[in-house]
Amino acid sequence: MTRRDAIKNTILTTIGVVFVPRLLAENNYSPLLNRSDFGNDFLWGVATAAYQIEGAHDVDGKGKSIWDTFSHQKGKIERSENGDTACDFYHSYASDIALIKEMNLNVNRFSISWSRIFPEGIGKKNQAGIDFYHKVIDKCLELNIQPWITLYHWDLPQVLQDKGGWTNRDVITWFSEFADFCTKEYGSKVKNWMVLNEPTAFTTLGYMLGMHAPGEKGLNKLLAAVHHAAMCQAEGGRIIRKNVENAHVGTTFSCSHIESKNQKPANIAAAKRYDALVNRMFIEPALGLGYPMADFPVLKKLSKYMKKGDAEKLAFDFDFIGIQNYTRSIVQHSLIPPVLWAMEVPAKKRDVPFTDMGWEVYPEGIYHLLKKFAAYKGIKKIIVSENGAAFPDKVENGAIHDKERTEFFKSYLTQVLRAKKEGVPVMGYFVWTLMDNFEWSFGYRPRFGLVYVDFATQKRYLKDSGLWFKDFLAH
Ligand code: FCB
Repeated sequence: MTRRDAIKNTILTTIGVVFVPRLLAENNYSPLLNRSDFGNDFLWGVATAAYQIEGAHDVDGKGKSIWDTFSHQKGKIERSENGDTACDFYHSYASDIALIKEMNLNVNRFSISWSRIFPEGIGKKNQAGIDFYHKVIDKCLELNIQPWITLYHWDLPQVLQDKGGWTNRDVITWFSEFADFCTKEYGSKVKNWMVLNEPTAFTTLGYMLGMHAPGEKGLNKLLAAVHHAAMCQAEGGRIIRKNVENAHVGTTFSCSHIESKNQKPANIAAAKRYDALVNRMFIEPALGLGYPMADFPVLKKLSKYMKKGDAEKLAFDFDFIGIQNYTRSIVQHSLIPPVLWAMEVPAKKRDVPFTDMGWEVYPEGIYHLLKKFAAYKGIKKIIVSENGAAFPDKVENGAIHDKERTEFFKSYLTQVLRAKKEGVPVMGYFVWTLMDNFEWSFGYRPRFGLVYVDFATQKRYLKDSGLWFKDFLAH
């Protein structure tokens, strides 16, 4: 090499090693990730839920949901907050959907408030509520954003809870009526449907632990709710397929990458039970495998709620499944809670990074979960239908420099891509969530949004993480 070549090489290397990454970093654009790596058909979206954003809790004929009741009960929600107003999406839907467009995202996953459409649970309909979702859908379509509807994201009409809610087998009929109506009403415009949001979460938190609406407790309540929700999961799928031409039918599952604390047999067994409860309880019946009773024997008691023919009816051939992941769980044997005899070792005690929810940031977890779910026979496609992180954001001169959240997305997306490259049929990634909102029993403290919401003024500010998506998706 001549001296001239050597100098040229040094200059080029310096530009490559020092200046290009700096330039990319200044633009907040990860050199490791490119939108095109995910393929042209990959879907990029945000996810929300009606009760968490809509507000307008008693407007235009809406009936009460279990969350309207629960959030007003003493001591249930941090700082006694409630979703009465939330982000007031009911009134600001048009400008909020425009924000999705501004970030170059192309999917809006949202849910329908059952009691806005059927204030009395079933029977009489509320035209203003029906019209509201037409307006939301039309706005999405106008902006070239695909509407993806979740039929049930946890807000059961209160009148139905008064009759036992998910513990009453009649919920299968009630839910079918709701699903039938929505799919007939909106099915010509909306092709992508999800039946339930995280049935494990709403049954365990709402009917066993009493931490979510309706605040019920007890093993029998849990088991009844689980079986009825699993029946609705499949029945909802059948209704969507029957009513919507060219439907793309799915449902969603909360999931966590689970590891035993160590190799002690008691901890390994606890982790297995935990996995059956958290990751397997709803997907396996849908796939025709039945409930994972062998690994979580208490589920044998479900047979009390099963009628002749139910076993077959639990199965449905979904076009896709949505997996929703936030963290991993390190599990150990424990004397509480009974029945499960297992408990998580909190991230705070493990010297690992964690979010404002106390959830460990563990990007590899989503890779393992994608592999785990893809390994089931019968899974055709997977969407990451929720992933995101809460951090304590601050507005500084109208900007929110939420670097940790942007890093969170980059690291999780890298793992999604890794799974995709290894053949997992993952076809989309939806951020939880569009904007800061009512985070169930935690109220407004945990901020998960790409958009910051000042709840006193309802003013919105795009966070740096939202700007990162805008930039990333534009390339
Ligand atoms: C999921 C819920 C969603 C939101 C996120 C943080 O379990 O589906 O509504 O609360 O957690």
